[in-house]
Amino acid sequence: MPLVPLRVVLDHAAEHNYGVAAFNVNNMEQIQAIMEAAKETDSPVIVQASRGARSYSQDNYLRHLMLAAAELYPEIPVVMHQDHGNSPATCYSAIKYGFTSVMMDGSLLEDAKTAAPFDYNVKVTADVVKVAHSMGVSVEGEIGCLGSIEHKAPAKDTGPVDPQLMGEPGERHGHDADLEQEPEPEGAMSHLTDPNEAEDFVAATGVDALAVAIGTSHGAYKFKTKPTGEVLKMSLIEEIHRRLPNTHLVMHGSSSVPEDLQEIIRKYGGKMGETYGVPVEEIQRGIKHGVRKINVDTDCRMAMTGAIRKVFAETPDKFDPREYLKPAREAMKKICLARMIAFGQAGNASKLMATGRLK
Ligand code: G3H
Ligand code: 13P
Ligand code: ZN
Repeated sequence: MPLVPLRVVLDHAAEHNYGVAAFNVNNMEQIQAIMEAAKETDSPVIVQASRGARSYSQDNYLRHLMLAAAELYPEIPVVMHQDHGNSPATCYSAIKYGFTSVMMDGSLLEDAKTAAPFDYNVKVTADVVKVAHSMGVSVEGEIGCLGSIEHKAPAKDTGPVDPQLMGEPGERHGHDADLEQEPEPEGAMSHLTDPNEAEDFVAATGVDALAVAIGTSHGAYKFKTKPTGEVLKMSLIEEIHRRLPNTHLVMHGSSSVPEDLQEIIRKYGGKMGETYGVPVEEIQRGIKHGVRKINVDTDCRMAMTGAIRKVFAETPDKFDPREYLKPAREAMKKICLARMIAFGQAGNASKLMATGRLK
């Protein structure tokens, strides 16, 4: 079946009280991992590409890989989503390449670093909604800025990133270490979503889904200890959902950074400091309160990297890329399967197809 808009999937998720993982992709093996997990669990899926991913894989390759996924798995509704579009132009170019959903992230300016004024965010998001909706494409907006409460600027991140993987400057969107925001005193929370602003933003823009900032951040280094309500504000989700019961909420920075994956990476020569992610049970709590899209990238990266490190460490004589990409793909599939089951999307692909809403 053709790629489908985000809105249709999230409406079904809301009617049946489940969440849908949005997994980031940069290459064929990651798309294959997601699709195999979706097939095995009968899950609708959201596959998303950041600007960095689009520049790394090139739009044409990505487009045809996604079309191949839709062709090979006609029983699975697949959304192709632009993650963190930094400007209307980025969103429009994604639509041109066949994306069925775009995120206009106007919480930051076009540089993807500087916190943006509310009016700017409303303007760019409303502009994108107008164009996207006229073409049947869904739009996610964001209000508040992602980022840790514990170490709100400067924050640790995964360390220096290979500039070759980054594409143009600023392509890595909204990573704590890159943000140019006023440092807040320890524990300050002014970057989190203000529920009043969330209400005004949804009314003014007509977005299909709203990303909220509740203290999560991108990457592996989210929390110094297992997060409590002090640093992971699930209560804020509950408040926003109470005020906007018909708006689909999105949680970014929702990798759980599993300890077993950290251990595998360390065991086979990788460097990872002690760190904690977003516990799956907190995401499940969010799903009970309007969270419908859950962004997961880091866990998949860790799963693949751990598997590749293991092959390299145990069989240093191997050099056929298939011998390490196969286990990497398998390891990512395992994470996808686990999240699809935990978020409740498993079993819902066939149900969504049976509604006849997808053509
Ligand atoms: O936005 C965060 C996602 O993890 C994508 O990361 O910008 O390095 O591709 P990226
Ligand atoms: P993680 O880094 O927690 O996987 O978050 C990914 C994300 O929010 C992509 O937009
Ligand atoms: Zn994100």
